[in-house]
Amino acid sequence: MNDILVAAEPLRHFVETALINEGVDVERAKQASATLSYADLAGLDTHGVLNLMSLYVKGLSEGVISRTAEIEVLRDQGAVVTLDAHQMLGLNAGHYAMQMAMDKAKQYGVGIACVRNSTHFGAAGYYAQMALAEDMIGMAMTNLGSDPVAHAMGSRQPILGTNPISFAAPVANMPNFLLDMSTTVCASGKIKQANARNADVSGDWLCNDKGEPVSNPEAYFNGTAYLPGLGGWKKSSGGHKGFGLNLMVEILSGVLAGADVPMVGQKGKTNEVGHFFLVMNIPSFMPASEFKQTMAQMLDGYLSVPTFDGFDTLQYAGQPDNDNRAERAERGIPIPVTIFKELNEYAASHQMMPLEEL
Ligand SMILES: NC(=O)c1ccc[n+]([C@@H]2O[C@H](COP(=O)([O-])OP(=O)(O)OC[C@H]3O[C@@H](n4cnc5c(N)ncnc54)[C@H](O)[C@@H]3O)[C@@H](O)[C@H]2O)c1
Repeated sequence: MNDILVAAEPLRHFVETALINEGVDVERAKQASATLSYADLAGLDTHGVLNLMSLYVKGLSEGVISRTAEIEVLRDQGAVVTLDAHQMLGLNAGHYAMQMAMDKAKQYGVGIACVRNSTHFGAAGYYAQMALAEDMIGMAMTNLGSDPVAHAMGSRQPILGTNPISFAAPVANMPNFLLDMSTTVCASGKIKQANARNADVSGDWLCNDKGEPVSNPEAYFNGTAYLPGLGGWKKSSGGHKGFGLNLMVEILSGVLAGADVPMVGQKGKTNEVGHFFLVMNIPSFMPASEFKQTMAQMLDGYLSVPTFDGFDTLQYAGQPDNDNRAERAERGIPIPVTIFKELNEYAASHQMMPLEEL
């Protein structure tokens, strides 16, 4: 695969140092590096250090992401808060807003934070899982602003963002449930990764204009293959349900948050991304121990169901990430050679310690 293994903590520290170099305040850099490190450890490779240079450092140095913006409370009514991130790092805006939603949930039983005028916030699951330690259920979503990249059921033009949903619920004595997925067949980063590695893309990640699968990722970049919404091109494979889910995310994190949305367009000079966070405080509904025990019983029941010949045993969302975390904490994070080189070129030109291969 042409990957290089790097230890998790030096990699996180590298991210923190690079962001400080770019003028980000130390506390914010530390927090943002924790979010990227979370994705790297969980195996969400498209949303970890891979994006450090191409999204965050580039955005900061071009002024598309603000180094100094403060988050502004636009409305604060009971359990609901609406925030303006003023184009700060989405990694910081997301953390701040999720914490506010959790504080509200503690007080009111539920808490909701909407964020407008933000930028790319990384892996949605990072924010949802923040709720777990407090015996809360967390949800996080984001749109892509007015920059659609995916197609709905044969639409001739891209009209959808990859609009991820994440949902986290605590479980007793087993890995927590943590669903973290784009509402397109895959995150667009997976197409970029395959292209960088000269590898084919799998299954139905890309389709041509007849709805037939395309395996060459280059076709996506030269405009002859398209990324479909979750469920694919056709109604028979559930494409209409993926389209609906994608729009649900767009409505909550785009329209309701007051961010830019596809088909309406950009309000200001820059693309204004929106996020949506929902938190439920379990003790406001039932004792947390009862909830977590029933979760464990239910999930354990699923895991014990046999599968047809040739199928893997069942897993639930959050389990693979948990396994990755344990393995990668011990063996290191695999980084594509091209990214390793890119990071160390940056280190050399910014008087930073280079990353070392394990
Ligand atoms: N910030 C953004 O704009 C943006 C946009 C799109 C995606 N993303 C992020 O990209 C990441 C990857 O998204 P994706 O759609 O490619 O995810 P994916 O297809 O890799 O699915 C990941 C989810 O599926 C679960 N899972 C994996 N294997 C499983 C199995 N065998 N059985 C049951 N569950 C299983 C995982 O626990 C995880 O919850 C996510 O972190 C997402 O938040 C971010």
